[in-house]
Amino acid sequence: MKLKAIHPTIAEAIELPRLVALGDNLFGAAFNLMKLLPARHILDRAREEGLLHPDSVIIETTSGTFGLALAILSALRGYRLIIVSDPVIDEPLKRRLEDLGAVVDIVQDPAPIGGYQQSRLDRVAELGQQYPDHFWPSQYENPDNPGAYAHLAEFLEEALGEVDALVGTVGSGGSMCGTATALRKSFPHLYAVGVDTHGSVLFGGKDEKRLLRGLGNSLMPKNLDHTVFDEVHWVSSAEAFHATRLLHRRHGLFMGGTSGAAYMVAKWYAERNPDQAVVCMLPDEGHRYQDTIYSEAWLQEKDVWLPGLPDEPKLVDQRDECDGEWGRMLWGRRSYVDVIGEEFQP
Ligand SMILES: Cc1ncc(COP(=O)(O)O)c(C=O)c1O
Repeated sequence: MKLKAIHPTIAEAIELPRLVALGDNLFGAAFNLMKLLPARHILDRAREEGLLHPDSVIIETTSGTFGLALAILSALRGYRLIIVSDPVIDEPLKRRLEDLGAVVDIVQDPAPIGGYQQSRLDRVAELGQQYPDHFWPSQYENPDNPGAYAHLAEFLEEALGEVDALVGTVGSGGSMCGTATALRKSFPHLYAVGVDTHGSVLFGGKDEKRLLRGLGNSLMPKNLDHTVFDEVHWVSSAEAFHATRLLHRRHGLFMGGTSGAAYMVAKWYAERNPDQAVVCMLPDEGHRYQDTIYSEAWLQEKDVWLPGLPDEPKLVDQRDECDGEWGRMLWGRRSYVDVIGEEFQP
């Protein structure tokens, strides 16, 4: 893979991360916006398959970075875009989406089961009827989401030679499952550590309000392949926010909250496994979080201010043994049913 001096657009220029040494054996994969990778791959594939035409309307449900990536690409390529979101969408993101020409459609009420995520899906279905020639990228289900990360795996392999462990947060599952699966073609021993948060259903928890956004989920995405993970961690918002600011203070890396969550776990893992080359996924930049994660007043107001981080996670056999505190489980590349004992119940 050759580095190009001139890129056709900013999207191609920034879709791969910068690799930054965060310790002797720990490398941060620092993205401007990780979701550009799946968004571009999904749109390219849809165009190739004839599902997306110049006058199609793209409709997607998101209150996060996937929407921003779609909005950048839609602006560059001239597609009309409707982003369905809910009242928790933050103002800085909403403004950027609208500035890029996207229509932001906010649902007002959560569904009784599946909360806002379900009511957003219902709204997507409604809009789909209004625009018969629409394209729905569907990041939670579309196999081109994890498929996009083969490109990242190739980049990591070329840059580092060998990767022994990959640590990253899980939302749709696309980045961790896609990258780990592609890396295992060369390194079958690759140890995959998934980072989730309390109040998320992904690895057996119950759906509850979450302050830390981007990781975790209220619904079970098809793109989450549980059998990819060797180990799963649950971190609290307060821990993730503290770690995000440490990443900034120690390494000058100004990143979002999911980067802090991954960094806390990866640092702990890398120190305990000094013979392994560990890669930590840092999915987005910090600007959007200036008035929240990077504001001491906001942290105090939300009661998520921490003076320091715990030294280590609690090792648990059951998900609920670590409610509210940093916990880890040896998932052992098992399915959800094998670990939890029953199929996921929405
Ligand atoms: C900021 C941020 N970090 C991490 C993730 C999790 O990535 P994935 O959806 O690939 O599991 C997301 C997902 O939207 C995100 O927005």
